[in-house]
Order: sequence, then C-alpha cells, then structure tokens
Amino acid sequence: MQIAVDGPAASGKSSVAAQVAKKLGFVYFDTGVMYRAATWAAIQAKIDLNDEAACTALAEKIVIEVGPASIDDGRQADIVLDGQDITWEIRRPEVDASVSRISAYPKVREQMVNQQRRIGENGSTPGIVMAGRDIGTVVLPKAPLKIYLTASAEARARRRHEEELRRGQLSNYDDVLAAMKQRDHVDSSRVTSPLRPAEDAIIINTTQLQMSQAVDKMYSIVAGFLKS
Ligand code: DC
Repeated sequence: MQIAVDGPAASGKSSVAAQVAKKLGFVYFDTGVMYRAATWAAIQAKIDLNDEAACTALAEKIVIEVGPASIDDGRQADIVLDGQDITWEIRRPEVDASVSRISAYPKVREQMVNQQRRIGENGSTPGIVMAGRDIGTVVLPKAPLKIYLTASAEARARRRHEEELRRGQLSNYDDVLAAMKQRDHVDSSRVTSPLRPAEDAIIINTTQLQMSQAVDKMYSIVAGFLKS
C-alpha cells in the first residue's frame, strides 16, 4: 500500500505524514532529505551550485542512507552521507537557500527518483507513506491514495520561524517568509517535475488547522480509504 503525500515547504507535510504513518504502522519516508543531503554535499565540496554538470556528477557519486532514528534528539530518521551523520546539518539555512537550485537539475532528480521508487516498491510492508513534491505525479504515479497538503505562505513561514527558534537558531519572520515565497516559486516553476497536486490527489488545507487536527483529518481520509 502506497500513500503519496505532496505539498510546499512547511505545509505540515513531514510531521503530519510521519504521525499518520506511525498510527497506521506504515514506513514513513521523507524524500526531501535526499535533495537536502545532495545540497549539503555540494556545499561541503565547495562546488559552484550553478554548475549543473558538477552537481550532477556529485549526486551520482554520493551515497545517501536513510534509516530509523538511532538517537532520541527529535529526529525522525538518521540521514547519513558517505558514512557521516548529517541529520541536522541538512536543516541549516544555507541548505534551505540552495536546495531548490540543486533539486531543479533533471539528472539529479533522476538519481533520487530511481532510489525513491525502489524504496516505494520494496521493503514497505504493510505500507509506506512517502512525502515530497512529486510523489503523486512522478515517483509513485500509481499510488492508490494521494494527498496534497497546503497552507498559506504566511502560515507556513510562521511555523518554520517558530521551528527555527525552538532549535535555537536565529530567525526573522520576514526573512523566512521571503525565502519561503522564493522557494515556492522555484519549486513550482521548474521545468522538471514542478510542484503541483496530482489530478487525483485529495487536497488538505492546513492554514487554519493545528498539527493534531491536520493529523486527524489525514488519518480519517486514509482510514476511510483503507476500509473502502
Ligand atoms: O520538503 P523539504 O523542504 O525538506 O524539501 C527540500 C527541497 O527539496 C525543496 O525545496 C524541494 C525539493 N524536493 C523536491 O524537489 N522533490 C521532492 N520529492 C522532495 C523535495
């Protein structure tokens, strides 16, 4: 059983989908971490992020592993790049600022999508909830249930701002909002797999919802689907 969950940055997608997966006893996989890991690798290697060929070559070379959380520090999973734990590094603002650029390169996407399809098709008993931007449209177009979570840019920026403050990072709401709008623009206007709901996706708008309400809403949609 595959459930595809897509939506823009900070729509609540990751936390809502992770909680719903847990309630169902399904595997949860957040595909954004792979694009973030590739971006972190490029920053560390001091590669010019505008150099598509160099970014692609790097994406083909690196080994990204995503496994169950081994440390109880608030992480949903361990993200390991070439043997090094980068779970928190990939959440840094410099990654936020550049990840849209790297994830727009078609051959970088090809690498990631192939791995994601393998994960979606194997090792996902009794089911998998896969979250991203193009899961329902490209990665798992035959997923029987597709959900698209969205919220206003202001609501999403407020959530991201509060999350950064909680993590002890310096954060300014106006800057977060501007960066969010910029990332939305790049993610939805790119030529390869732009961010958009699949035609058969069920849309959940979380602007007015608390996280727990969004979880309840998504869970009831999934439970209704599984019963039918
Ligand atoms: O969900 P997130 O903010 O962690 O995603 C990070 C970036 O990766 C985001 O700017 C878009 C990109 N992404 C993508 O293009 N396709 C996916 N399936 C997941 C994320």
